[in-house]
Amino acid sequence: MPLSLHPHAAAHGKAIVLGEHSVVYGFPAMAAALPDALRLEATALPDPHAPSTLYMPDWDLQIELRVESEHPVARACLEVLGHCDGPLQGWAIAGRSRLPPGAGLGSSAALTVAIARLVLGPTASIDDVVAGSMAGERVFHGEPSGIDSEVAARGGMLRFVRGEAPTPVTFDGPLPLIVVPSRVGRSTADQVAKVRSRYDRFPRLTQPLLQVLGRSVDDGIEALKARDFDALGEIMQVAHEVLSAFAVSSPILDALCSTALRHGALGAKLTGAGGGGCIVVLPGPNPGSIIDAFTADGYEPLQVELLP
Ligand code: PMV
Repeated sequence: MPLSLHPHAAAHGKAIVLGEHSVVYGFPAMAAALPDALRLEATALPDPHAPSTLYMPDWDLQIELRVESEHPVARACLEVLGHCDGPLQGWAIAGRSRLPPGAGLGSSAALTVAIARLVLGPTASIDDVVAGSMAGERVFHGEPSGIDSEVAARGGMLRFVRGEAPTPVTFDGPLPLIVVPSRVGRSTADQVAKVRSRYDRFPRLTQPLLQVLGRSVDDGIEALKARDFDALGEIMQVAHEVLSAFAVSSPILDALCSTALRHGALGAKLTGAGGGGCIVVLPGPNPGSIIDAFTADGYEPLQVELLP
């Protein structure tokens, strides 16, 4: 049978709601899928031996997937295609994404999950899709924990402990969230190293802080299940303050959180590595005024309605 691709595939993005950084030290994290984050379409090229192409206008990306390419996206896509026994040439892949790349919202995992799905098809097992995605994620991130690929493939809300299978978090009714990209770049590795350095220099001081961040995840899940959004928002505030004690927030992220709170948010915190990237907001009864405030300041907030 000739190697071919399915015509369509999609994947979710992710926002860590609670537990970033402490997850590196073995504590749990809670991550929400950002639905409808990325879609791909594949069409066969007239010449089956021509290099495949990837066109993502939202990311200003138009590349050929050549084996000799040093472009990380080309290398990652070819790793996924190879891992899944897909075609390495002869296809045009094009897609749309509402995720800003490199902002901690799981854009690379969404891409690699969707590429794996183009090969494996809509009925493939999630574990096979995640394994395919991880082959590409290793090109981008070295040894990633896997949380991004799991959320990108599964959707919903996950409780994740490094090295363990993730558990879906079930809850009643939708969970509204707003994600605001700061448009400030950052390096996850640098931010993780910053936490590590403070931990190494002051272990007795910082160990309890990591425990609080880990505890915030299970208390947050309890509040979500009880639909006690006031409590969930307050727990997010505690987490943001504790993350600030590791110097992974920044004046811009703090200012974005203040804007959200001033316009009625129940909670607002940095999400992901910090230092730049995004904040995640739990809106109160009037999300429109939060969206309007950020839009008026020139930001592009993403509104998400997470379903159980
Ligand atoms: O790359 P980001 O912004 O999604 O952050 C990763 C989350 C960290 O906990 C900071 C690091 C990790 O490997 O879990």
